Amino acid sequence: MSLNHGLPRNIILIGFMGCGKSTIGRSLQGKLGYPWIDTDEHIEQCVGMSVKEIFAKRGEQAFRELESNILLDMTERRIQHHIISTGGGIIGRQENRKMLGKLGFVVWLVASTQVIMERTARNRDRPLLQTDDPKTRIEALLQERRPLYEETAHISIETHGLDSNEVASGIIESARYFFNQADATQVLDRDESVS
Ligand code: S3P
Repeated sequence: MSLNHGLPRNIILIGFMGCGKSTIGRSLQGKLGYPWIDTDEHIEQCVGMSVKEIFAKRGEQAFRELESNILLDMTERRIQHHIISTGGGIIGRQENRKMLGKLGFVVWLVASTQVIMERTARNRDRPLLQTDDPKTRIEALLQERRPLYEETAHISIETHGLDSNEVASGIIESARYFFNQADATQVLDRDESVS
């Protein structure tokens, strides 16, 4: 196994809206010097519309299709040494969960309903939270998604109260350990179908 700075593949951040994927992604990028891909931003650049506009004009399923396409593209190109942060609903499709696992070390950033409410309250760019009762929506989505984040992630981290630098350092240490495990190598090299 060839190691580039100790990390042979990618670090992928998953988790609910407002859990800190962008902040931690940026911090990881600063520490490792790897390119950072945010799937939402990538989709916006490709389509020339914001996520909000895509939901409004083409519907959620079209957006989910775009998410799957990005993951398929990154998986087929076997990209390495990237930080990848993802939209909160990317784990909804089984094919996506498989591809995330193939791409590298998957980290679930965990946040409570309260923290999510505080972090997303003033932002109008998340179509799924534009409701009169965001708390109920967040709780329902969390209940649905928790098992999927759990199934997809190699580790989970509760970020509340922690400095993003500390979280990023912890993730890098865990990733080094993960990639150095023989078992992990078998998992990563498994050439399974992603469809
Ligand atoms: C979504 C999360 C958003 C974005 C879209 C849908 C979701 O990304 O992909 O609004 O289904 O949870 P963030 O998690 O980066 O906010």
